[in-house]
Amino acid sequence: MKRAICFFTGTGNTAFVARKIMERFPDSSLFYLPETEPMALAEFEEIILLTPVHIFGLPEIVRRFVRGWKFPGEPRIVLVVTAGGDPGITVPLMRQALRRTKKTLAYFRFLKMPNNYIIAYRVTEEDRLALKESALAIERLLADLADSKTMSFHPHPFGWLKGMQKVASRSARWTSRFYRVQGCVGCQKCVKACPTANIVYEGKTVHFGKQCTGCLGCLNVCPVQAIEFGRTTVGKERYVHPEIDLTNLRPRR
Ligand SMILES: Cc1cc2nc3c(=O)[nH]c(=O)nc-3n(C[C@H](O)[C@H](O)[C@H](O)COP(=O)(O)O)c2cc1C
Ligand code: SF4
Ligand code: SF4
Repeated sequence: MKRAICFFTGTGNTAFVARKIMERFPDSSLFYLPETEPMALAEFEEIILLTPVHIFGLPEIVRRFVRGWKFPGEPRIVLVVTAGGDPGITVPLMRQALRRTKKTLAYFRFLKMPNNYIIAYRVTEEDRLALKESALAIERLLADLADSKTMSFHPHPFGWLKGMQKVASRSARWTSRFYRVQGCVGCQKCVKACPTANIVYEGKTVHFGKQCTGCLGCLNVCPVQAIEFGRTTVGKERYVHPEIDLTNLRPRR
């Protein structure tokens, strides 16, 4: 089967799962979502889309991407989400986006991973455990993918919140407005990690544009904690998946 594995990530959890799928199915093609045109997936028989959960749903960048699948045919579509707590209403949002392109969701899997949302959260021992426990869940996912397992989906009790979730996820664009930068050492890791190329290094510090998607990659990857979200992140431990190099996700850089 001609398989595309396409992922979005802020701090590496989802990239790690994509890599695991790639290792199991090495003939697949791997796509990093911010660098991929939706139509590039037109020729595939199976599309595995991987994304973190943002604000109980799909990040805006991912939803827009799915809505761009305006190609004919009915590839088998798989959605895999990673989240710190639960998948929220990612399934109804995905199904809604797919309906616009006359496609259907065949399979869904949620993987609990460490929570990178340090604006409202502190990385805990439970998160470290989630990292270990996710290994088993990833194995189950791989087995289901090998079997081309399918599922049927029913209306979600909170599906009616889709509209609100979309407004909230669109507002992520302004996240970096609230960033304070102090003590930048110029390593430019944040510049390379940013999925939307929203950061420039100039005048011995970094500057943010208006294309933030709120992934928290920059804030978490900075080795000297120079980026803070107001005061809410001060003194909080940062988190990046230990096996993922965020500065090396873009194949063309
Ligand atoms: C803006 C933002 C919103 C988030 N919202 C949720 C949420 O609603 N529910 C949840 O369980 N985790 C939430 N998280 C945590 C991430 O979904 C989780 O840590 C995910 O595994 C991160 O994946 P990544 O490392 O690939 O970016 C949020 C993270 C961010 C940055
Ligand atoms: S990662 Fe931190 S230290 Fe490095 S350029 Fe960005 S803000 Fe500066
Ligand atoms: S500016 Fe930071 S939070 Fe915003 S998209 Fe780039 S890496 Fe993510």
